[in-house]
This record gives sequence, C-alpha cells and structure tokens, in this order.
Amino acid sequence: MTNVSKVYGANGHAVYALRHVSLEIKRGELLVVMGPSGSGKSTLLNIVGTLDRPTEGEVVVAGVRVSELNEDALSRVRCRTVGFVFQFFNLINNLTALENVMLPMVLSGDYTTSEAREKARELLRLVGLEGLEERRPTQLSGGQQQRVAIARALANDPAIVLMDEPTGSVDAEAASKILSLVRWLNRVRGHTFMIVTHNPDVAAIATRVVYIRDGVLYERPPESAMERVKALRDLPGARLAYLRMLLVELRSLLRRLESGAIGPQDGARELERLRRVARELGVRV
Ligand SMILES: Nc1ncnc2c1ncn2[C@@H]1O[C@H](COP(=O)(O)OP(=O)(O)O)[C@@H](O)[C@H]1O
Ligand SMILES: [Mg+2]
Repeated sequence: MTNVSKVYGANGHAVYALRHVSLEIKRGELLVVMGPSGSGKSTLLNIVGTLDRPTEGEVVVAGVRVSELNEDALSRVRCRTVGFVFQFFNLINNLTALENVMLPMVLSGDYTTSEAREKARELLRLVGLEGLEERRPTQLSGGQQQRVAIARALANDPAIVLMDEPTGSVDAEAASKILSLVRWLNRVRGHTFMIVTHNPDVAAIATRVVYIRDGVLYERPPESAMERVKALRDLPGARLAYLRMLLVELRSLLRRLESGAIGPQDGARELERLRRVARELGVRV
C-alpha cells in the first residue's frame, strides 16, 4: 500500500483511522502489526483484504490494483487472493467444520463439491482436527474453532492470510497451539501472513514486526504507553482539565470542613495532597 489514509466521518468530526501508511509485504513474510486498541489495526487489515476502501492512496494485492476495482471485480479477486481469520472465528454455526472449510472452495467455482470435500478433509488434518469434521462450531472449543477458521482461510490457496487478533478469544494454551501452527505454515509451507494484534506474544513468531499508533505506522517501537501517560502532563488540554478537577476537589474539601463533615486534621492532610498534585502540574496553591 502506498500513502494510504482512511478518514471516517464528515468534516468537523473526522476520525483519521490511518494516516499516509505505506507498507510492502513480501511473499513468504509473516508480518505482525502491533498496536493498542483503536490504533487502526483492523482498518489496515480490512483495507489490505479489500473489505474496506482507503479514502486516499493505492493498494495492490498480488499484482492487482484493488483500490480501483468495483465491488463485483473485488469479490472475485478477494475469494482467491486473501484468506481471513478473525478474533471471534466467524464460522457458520449451522454448517459442520468440514462444510465451513468447503464453502470458499465451492463459492470460488474452482472445485466440484467432491473435490472441495476431499481438500477440506486434508486441510482439517493439516490443522490437527482430524476426526472432528462433522462437529458444528458450537461443539468445538475456541481454539479448535480458530483452527477450522485457519483451514478455511487456506482453502483457496490465497496469496496472503490476514489475521485480526487471532488469539484474542482463546486461552493461553490454545493460543500457543495456534501460533505454532501459523509459524509452521509460514516457515515450512511458505504461506504469507499479516497478523494485527495488541498481544506481544504474537510478535515472537514474526519474520518482521511493525508498529501502529493513532493510524501512523512505525518501523521501530514508539514510546511505551506509560511514557505516553507521563507525557499527558505536558498536554495543555489535559493539564487544564486536571487543574479544574483540583479546583472542584478543593471546593468540596472546604465545604466539608465548614460543615464539620471532616475534622481539621483530615482536612489538612487532604489539602496537602491537593497541593502536591498541583505542584507536580507546575501550579502553586
Ligand atoms: N466505521 C467507523 N466509523 C467511525 N470511526 C471508526 C469506524 N471504524 C473504526 N473507526 C475508528 O477508527 C480508529 C481505528 O479503529 P480500528 O481500526 O478498529 O482500531 P483497532 O483495530 O486497532 O482497535 C478508531 O478511532 C475507531 O474508533
Ligand atoms: Mg481491531
């Protein structure tokens, strides 16, 4: 993607979900995009996967300039080019595991039903779910459902598999199984992956990690969240809001002192606390 921006909402309330993002993912990579909640990860992933369109910029997937295609052309390209794995599995509940994996093959028109069934069996074996073909999603654990979703994502041999918080709703053991499987599919089978997550454990299987904050992509980790909290003190708006809060607390303290709701000693201690906070914000009380 080149110079991609995504803006939600009209002028005045515009939210920049992505700002001038340029990113190249090479065949065979396992790219992990790390970022906190709300940083633009899903927006980025959905734009690469052609589920969403950029407001500005160009997107090329497997040699196709998808940012210029209409919906019909997109849905034809999408089903053979990208595989999706979502945090909440998004399997179809009234289909069996096998039928869920067959579905994209049947929809592509490239496979007969019996070919799709045969390939789906192998895909389920590949992700370690042999014997569970006839189960419905509700009869599978979260980790098993996610492995069905991975098998489904691989069904049409996509150029890239896109994963949005793939370990976000499974326990630690299932997460580690999923990550080992993905690592194997990448290193041994050569599948290309882009995974977006806030979970640092996922970065361990990456061949490359990039970082996203407030819609901006970074090659190196930006300052930590804690440093950002400290930096809040330097934001004029936040500092002012904090000072106004202190004033309210001060007024409340005086009122409680006058009414006798608290004694002079507690009052003095509370006042000292407010003074200290004010001093940290650079104001004398
Ligand atoms: N459909 C939408 N309309 C308005 N704002 C949106 C929409 N989708 C996402 N956003 C905003 O864009 C930003 C990035 O969202 P998202 O890509 O979902 O982040 P993440 O996946 O990292 O949590 C957030 O501020 C979010 O509130
Ligand atoms: Mg998200």
